[in-house]
Amino acid sequence: MKTRITELLGIEHPIFQAAMSWASSNAPLVIAVSNAGGMGILAAGPMRPADFSSTLKQIQDGTKKPFGVNIPLNNPRAPELLDIAHAAKIPVMVASQGGPKEQLPRFRAVGTKWLHVVASVEHAKKAQAAGVDGLVVDGAEAGGHPPASQVTTMVLVRRIVKAVDLPVVASGGAADGAGIAALLALGADAVQLGTRFIATPEASVHDSYKQAVLAADVHDTTLVGPRHLPIRLLKNAFTEKFHASGAADQDALYKATSLKQAALEGDVAHGKVEAGQTAGLIDDVVPAGELFARLVRELDDARRRLASL
Ligand SMILES: Cc1cc2nc3c(=O)[nH]c(=O)nc-3n(C[C@H](O)[C@H](O)[C@H](O)COP(=O)(O)O)c2cc1C
Repeated sequence: MKTRITELLGIEHPIFQAAMSWASSNAPLVIAVSNAGGMGILAAGPMRPADFSSTLKQIQDGTKKPFGVNIPLNNPRAPELLDIAHAAKIPVMVASQGGPKEQLPRFRAVGTKWLHVVASVEHAKKAQAAGVDGLVVDGAEAGGHPPASQVTTMVLVRRIVKAVDLPVVASGGAADGAGIAALLALGADAVQLGTRFIATPEASVHDSYKQAVLAADVHDTTLVGPRHLPIRLLKNAFTEKFHASGAADQDALYKATSLKQAALEGDVAHGKVEAGQTAGLIDDVVPAGELFARLVRELDDARRRLASL
């Protein structure tokens, strides 16, 4: 299947494993997905520079295929992480939370393709004006940071595809080949799945986190955090307490609670369990390469079904 994204990045299938703090902050998941012909993305946000550097080396040893790195540009460690990524001449940058203008020229000079994560029409147009190679568009269903506007992937991707002239990777709400086909039908050039890849042995989160994703239904997530930058989490004791608190207490509670608590320590009752609505579509833990092959088969099935209607 050829799209503007498969051509731009040199990948076989228009399927991305999303950057997920902790869950994809390791080499094995990225290597498995890139070797399967997709785009594996390392989430550098929570990583210490030395770990990031050695993980990049492991990935470069583990795959000769393109892979991506996500760096939130507003992260206090971003300058160091960016220097390491630049020195490693990473094939693909998936930048989030900040403007790309300053960094683009030096990454372009070493051959990196730059995709920018956006969650609004305004930011999509700004990123296009800054000269990025493509966009990742996050809709409301997504785990992590969905748009503050809560516009769904279905609507936002369609709107942005019509508003800009750039390849678009749709993100949020797809957990299988049918979901991927649906977003490609909207005009996306590739589709990114996050939560689905948490339920793999390679994802570096505690087993309790994976079990919480399997147990969740589609209505078991909720938004918490600042209004301009909410995060989507599985409902638990923390989210209940958050919603029952006043604004000042919410702020303190939000700051005192972490994703790490759930992801590394396995405290899925009191930590932040970031996950998308797709948690309700996921029933099994499958090795990432096997999962990827299944997604490709399901995508073919969905295309055949549509063609036969
Ligand atoms: C546990 C988790 C952590 C995430 N961390 C990041 C991150 O560090 N950087 C980022 O740009 N997006 C992050 N996201 C968002 C994903 O990249 C992606 O947009 C989202 O998972 C897509 O929605 P889905 O989970 O429904 O597939 C995270 C999502 C999850 C579920």
